[in-house]
Amino acid sequence: MAKRIGVMTGGGDCPGLNAVIRAVVLGARQRGWEVLGIEDATNGLIDLDYRSPNGNRWLTEADVERILPRGGTIIGTSNKSDPFKYVVVEGGKKKEVDVSDRVVANYKKLGLDALVSIGGDGSMRISQKFIEKGLKIVGIPKTIDQDLACTDYTFGHHTAVQTAADAIDRLQDTAESHDRVMLVEVMGRDAGWIALHSAIAGGAHGCLIHEIPYRLEAVVKKVKDRKAAGRPFSIIVVAEGARPMGGDQAVVGRELGAMVKLGGISQRLVNDLQPHLDLDVRATVLGHIQRGGSPVQFDRILGTRFGIHAVELVEQGRFGRMVALKTPDIVSVPIAEAISTPAAVDPKGQVVAAARACGIAFGDEPA
Ligand code: F6P
Repeated sequence: MAKRIGVMTGGGDCPGLNAVIRAVVLGARQRGWEVLGIEDATNGLIDLDYRSPNGNRWLTEADVERILPRGGTIIGTSNKSDPFKYVVVEGGKKKEVDVSDRVVANYKKLGLDALVSIGGDGSMRISQKFIEKGLKIVGIPKTIDQDLACTDYTFGHHTAVQTAADAIDRLQDTAESHDRVMLVEVMGRDAGWIALHSAIAGGAHGCLIHEIPYRLEAVVKKVKDRKAAGRPFSIIVVAEGARPMGGDQAVVGRELGAMVKLGGISQRLVNDLQPHLDLDVRATVLGHIQRGGSPVQFDRILGTRFGIHAVELVEQGRFGRMVALKTPDIVSVPIAEAISTPAAVDPKGQVVAAARACGIAFGDEPA
């Protein structure tokens, strides 16, 4: 039977979103279904006139032609539109209100049979709450941070790692020329996967992540040992969520209805390290560069396979599930399960062990 489905992208953008949208549209259209692209995450469901006439729109094969290599998302996204804690301004003051019933009513008004929700941990939590309110949702895991459980990889992560590793390659050149210590701050709030994978791929000498709190002395020692061994330059990759042992993450601010904003850990480290070293210490913050750009082939293929599998789940009526990669297969797991366990780096796992074996210091080494 012909269906009418909605597709939306939520949370921070991520390379590969368009590849997923394309696959969902092509898979659905092949079955004779209609696909509504919902604008800016749940914003397009909270208010059906949101951004009208450029808001929600029916997507056809023509709309997704040649979007595969494009970064960003053609239907927009938002990480500030949780309908259960929606921020409104009343009397000049911001406050959070629950507009989730409005979303349910609009879903029905649009005559949707299902919703494909492409997002990270936050979007999957919101999706789960709507599933409990009766919406038929299939989830697709996206995040450059790779912090969603139950899937070997989320799409977007490989592209972010490629971007970070390219930057590390360049910084290796200039660090070696000037005998400098270069700190490279990468994204990754609660999971240090981008830092860990790019440190390995870029041949870095240090890697500081949230999961392994560092001691300053251990970082200083690594740099000094390298200098003593005739290599007076070092590259240290720092996840934005890294923290010293017994200390806090570098928090920039907190806005109502948004995640805590992290940033500045590398500059903090420059200040802390410099007095202990006779080498110049510099910081480079990669920031949102990691979120943009054309997805690498891995993310295009994974995104495409995720999108097609999500359509199959809708066809089979298997709602409340998130597609996942269990190499080499695309499978599905309950969304509730995916959000119940954090997907942080295992300090005792094989990846960290391989990094250590190649001489990467994590700042927890004994004095
Ligand atoms: O969750 C993905 C992510 O890129 C995090 O690594 C980062 O902390 C956050 O999004 C940044 O969000 P914003 O786009 O709001 O600055």
